[in-house]
This record gives sequence, C-alpha cells and structure tokens, in this order.
Amino acid sequence: MSDNGLFLTLEGIDGAGKSSHLDALEALFQAQGRTVVRTREPGGTALAETLRGLILEQPMDPLTESLLVFAARRDHVVQVIEPALARGDVVLCDRFTDATFAYQGAGRGFDDAVLSTLEQWVQAGRAGRAGRPASQLLQPDVTLWFDLAPEIAAQRLAGARVPDKFEAQPVEFFRRVAQGYADRASADARRFVRIDASQARDQVWQQVEAALVARGVFAGAAR
Ligand code: TMP
Repeated sequence: MSDNGLFLTLEGIDGAGKSSHLDALEALFQAQGRTVVRTREPGGTALAETLRGLILEQPMDPLTESLLVFAARRDHVVQVIEPALARGDVVLCDRFTDATFAYQGAGRGFDDAVLSTLEQWVQAGRAGRAGRPASQLLQPDVTLWFDLAPEIAAQRLAGARVPDKFEAQPVEFFRRVAQGYADRASADARRFVRIDASQARDQVWQQVEAALVARGVFAGAAR
C-alpha cells in the first residue's frame, strides 16, 4: 500500500457467496471515514459492462474470451481503479485478474503465459499509480478468497437464478477453477486471505473482519 488508496478484491468460484459481503464491507470502510468505490469485473465502466454481457452470454474460444476480459479490465483500470487509488479511496472490486487465471487459465485450460502477457499490458504503463514505477504491475493490496467445495457451490446456485455461461458449466470445470485459485493463493500468500466459505454467513463475515484487522487494514471492528 504505497499510497493511501487500498485495492481490495473478492474472489471465488460461482456460488461461494463473496458478493453477499460487499454491503457490510462498504459500510465498515465508510465507518472508518474512507471513501469507497465499489465495482466489479468484468464491468465497472459503460464499455466494460457492455463487454461483460458478451463474455457472460456469447459462446467464444478461450483466446477471444481472454482478450475481451482484459479489454474490459483495461478500461476499468484506466477509468475507475487508478483514479480512485490516486485519490486515496478504497476500491472494493468483485473479481479481478485472479479470476482470469482461475477461469480462463485453469478452468478453460488456456495458456497462462498468454494471460501473463496480457496482464503486463493491461496493469502496467501509463495508468501507473502514483509512486508506482511503470514496470510494477497494478495488483490488489489484499484479496479475499472465498473457498468453497464446488459441489456445495453448485447446490447453493441451483435454482437461484437463470445461470449464465459460466454458472452453467459442470462441476468438473469448477473443480479446476477452485484449484486455479488455490494455486494463485499459494503463489502469493502475502496478498491472499483464505476465507472458509462453507460456514454460516455470519461466521464467514467474522472471518472477513478478523482477516482485515489482522492485516492492519483498519484498527478494529466498527460495528
Ligand atoms: P460474477 O458473477 O461474480 O460477477 O462473475 C462473472 C463471471 O465471469 C463469473 O462466472 C466468473 C467470470 N469471469 C471470468 O471468467 N474471467 C474473469 O477474468 C472475470 C473477472 C470473471
């Protein structure tokens, strides 16, 4: 956290319940006097939300999917995330690049080296965060990873809403995605916080709060 801005991401397979904690997270930071920019990927700008509709609904090959995800991300980084961090805001982002490595990389079996190249293009360069050299990629400060067995996630999702292209994938796909997240987490244990999402919602929230306090993100519970 080289400046006062905080970039916090939420990750996990579909049905892990991460998004249900966004309201409480936003309230917690606001209670600390912070300005919160709440956003999501794919999405977060008019262009990126348009791309989201295509990514979630249209069949396409994994390279096309990856290019569209990163195109949406570029617009989001330049228009929303970097300016917010430069102002010192808290950016609460529902998914970011870890999702691409988990879904397109591990889930679809697409080439991680290509994803890494796209990551370099999109998260470095002129969108440079204040005090961040152009060679240093924009990355979240903290990533809350909601870890849940794919079988339980599938039960939670069943009948909840009309599934999009990803939610309609078989459980084997989500096993690979879950493994992708586990691999990302062990490769960057300093950034990732594993949340056991199999517990009841209140207990999951307590884990989130405790993890943020332990990381020094804020002094203590605000409720
Ligand atoms: P959401 O339902 O949590 O908003 O996520 C949208 C879907 O998009 C979810 O199934 C995961 C998928 N996704 C990718 O496949 N790659 C990505 O890079 C991102 C950000 C999301």
